[in-house]
Amino acid sequence: MIRLNFYIEKVDGVPNAYFIQATDKDSLLGEYAESIADTIFFYKGKVGRIDRIKVADSKQGSGVGKQMVSYIERYMNKHGVKEIYLEPLDKKAENFWKHMGYKQLKDKNMIKKL
Ligand SMILES: CC(C)(COP(=O)(O)OP(=O)(O)OC[C@H]1O[C@@H](n2cnc3c(N)ncnc32)[C@H](O)[C@@H]1OP(=O)(O)O)[C@@H](O)C(=O)NCCC(=O)NCCS
Repeated sequence: MIRLNFYIEKVDGVPNAYFIQATDKDSLLGEYAESIADTIFFYKGKVGRIDRIKVADSKQGSGVGKQMVSYIERYMNKHGVKEIYLEPLDKKAENFWKHMGYKQLKDKNMIKKL
């Protein structure tokens, strides 16, 4: 499994929005480390949302997406979030999110209760 470092920073000018990036923990020199995955997530009070996660093509299927989602869920949970919403990109993404425990709602959104 790829060992990852996660960096989170507030998105300037967008309320409640945070940028998260994963880099390879075993690569040299942190600031030059290659970005392996990123997304933006939002939370306010008990409700969170994850935007479209993008894992680098060459790293897909290596557990990176799962590690990033789990990290975001733990982070939001620590900040009081009780439910996370998202809108999957397509059918393939929807299956990934189902695998991660998200349930389809009547509209295009999916939800997971933490
Ligand atoms: C979708 C995406 C984020 C998943 O990340 P990933 O790193 O490739 O997935 P992982 O290797 O972490 O997979 C984690 C688990 O989900 C499963 N999984 C991954 N993709 C799946 C899919 N399409 N359908 C069903 N299960 C899937 C894996 O088998 C794995 O299962 P396991 O934990 O039982 O071993 C990534 O492939 C990606 O960036 N795709 C292109 C952009 C995209 O669609 N983003 C989502 C936008 S909403």
